[in-house]
Amino acid sequence: MVKILLINGPNLNLLGQREPEKYGSVTLREIEEKLSCFIGARNAELLCYQSNHEGAIVDRIQQAQVEGVDAIIINPGAYTHTSIAIRDAFLGVQIPFVEVHLSNIFQRESFRHHSYLSDIAKGCFIGLGAKGYFLAAEYLLNPAI
Ligand code: DQA
Repeated sequence: MVKILLINGPNLNLLGQREPEKYGSVTLREIEEKLSCFIGARNAELLCYQSNHEGAIVDRIQQAQVEGVDAIIINPGAYTHTSIAIRDAFLGVQIPFVEVHLSNIFQRESFRHHSYLSDIAKGCFIGLGAKGYFLAAEYLLNPAI
């Protein structure tokens, strides 16, 4: 069975209450539950992880290789713009991943325009709200048109 890991980085545990005009009113728990159903209905399995700590996310990416995870969906939060360590973890394990951002980072402050992950991701869904997680899953499970 295909195994997909969802990783959400710092402050995404606050979804629903955090700057809802930028990130929406849906909670992370609701996203995880709906995405689990979406992926389960396609005979695949979803594992969910959220951390506010860079090293913990690196550990989780490395652990994914041990667990035989097939693909990762990640919203790295602010670590998108700072973390060479998370980039190196993906390069180290060679697990395909899709990068998701709820907000359109290119419409925001210039320090959010650069991602340390986008050039090594399979692809990115940016600015489409929580729908981006589902589009990422749909792509990973069914990449053909
Ligand atoms: C974010 C965008 C980041 O710049 C920000 O630090 C976040 C959320 C998004 O989903 O739009 O925490 O990744």
